[in-house]
Amino acid sequence: MFKRDVQRGHRAAGLVLTSVAAVLLASCGGGSLSEGGGGESGDNSGPVKIGLSVPVSGVYASLGEDMTQGFNLYLDENDGKLGGRDIEVVSADEGEGPETGVPATTKLVTQDQVSAVVGIVNSSVALGLQETFVQSEVPLIIANAGADDLTAEASPYIWRTSFTNGGVAAALGEAVAEDVGDGSVYLIAADYAAGEESVNGFKEAFEAAGGTVAGETYTPFGTTSDWQPYLSKIRSSGATAVYTFYAGAEAVNFVKQYSTFGLAEKTQLYGVGFLTEGGVLDAQGQAAVGTQTSLHYSDLLESDSNRRFVDAYQAAYDEVPTVYAVQAYDAAAALDAAIEGAESTDGAGIAEAMADVGEIDSPRGAWSFDENHNPDQPYYLREVQEGESGLGNVIVGKLTQ
Ligand code: BEZ
Repeated sequence: MFKRDVQRGHRAAGLVLTSVAAVLLASCGGGSLSEGGGGESGDNSGPVKIGLSVPVSGVYASLGEDMTQGFNLYLDENDGKLGGRDIEVVSADEGEGPETGVPATTKLVTQDQVSAVVGIVNSSVALGLQETFVQSEVPLIIANAGADDLTAEASPYIWRTSFTNGGVAAALGEAVAEDVGDGSVYLIAADYAAGEESVNGFKEAFEAAGGTVAGETYTPFGTTSDWQPYLSKIRSSGATAVYTFYAGAEAVNFVKQYSTFGLAEKTQLYGVGFLTEGGVLDAQGQAAVGTQTSLHYSDLLESDSNRRFVDAYQAAYDEVPTVYAVQAYDAAAALDAAIEGAESTDGAGIAEAMADVGEIDSPRGAWSFDENHNPDQPYYLREVQEGESGLGNVIVGKLTQ
């Protein structure tokens, strides 16, 4: 049985983060790239403006809240400064997809003239923004969205503190192939870039390890509420296990319906860790027990730096941290090092300094950016188990890639 010394709990209301110089809510639209982005011209006085773009609404709103909390915790621990400079945070609501996320985030660059942007949950939003950041020479520090193509070729303006969709999914392939043996696995995911890449990454590694696929289905993103027709298909396929990609509100509904439909007892459920992360697991309750996932973090990770982080996060927000909070906390740490070493704090100056940030001392374990600007990190096999203080993602193994 695992032991937690922190309790999952309601979100602390009204936490005042006095260290953030100012938080402005940016609305959608506005500006053009030719108006110029990239913040101050480099006189290196006054606060550095950093954009924070995460979902405040839609399927992934809870992920956005966790990222905001992780980013703010780092700022709070550093007196509101990054690299010794005061920080002004300008916030935008990414919403549910590119139609909201692209204009809201573009405005941070063109109108608010930030020096860098942190955030972006949804892969389709990040893909829609990639060109904007490259052209305007402002760094985008992606703190979640896993679209493989974003970092297929390294750009000085695109950095990621999270994962690639293909990488975190592929990590699970061999372990599942070993588990199911002569059986087969059904693949089901949200129908957009992240779901497709997740299925493809898993399938490639799983089949290479001798696994058999029983079928593959994609469900409309953001509008599916009844999974029964898809669950019937899974049952009639005769699959012995299921691999899936869902996160946020979709993960809650899928896992609950998977259990209610009676599949959980006989058909082992696997997925990437977003399926059972944080508040999502609280909402799924007993329906999630036994689900196995791959991820680069669990709040139950045994290390001094994670214990310190979990305690600080719990003290600030009265709940345990998620991978989303860690990714945003690490984005702040990367910017801290970059601004410290930057010759100027406009977009180009920070982008140049990002190449030299070195090792990030993270709650997930120390990591560095690889040559494509993704974290070079291990993945863990996690299983939802009931412990003395509730449900948790217990680390049951380390995955090879
Ligand atoms: C993505 O769109 O890349 C994504 C969204 C939520 C969780 C993980 C990945």
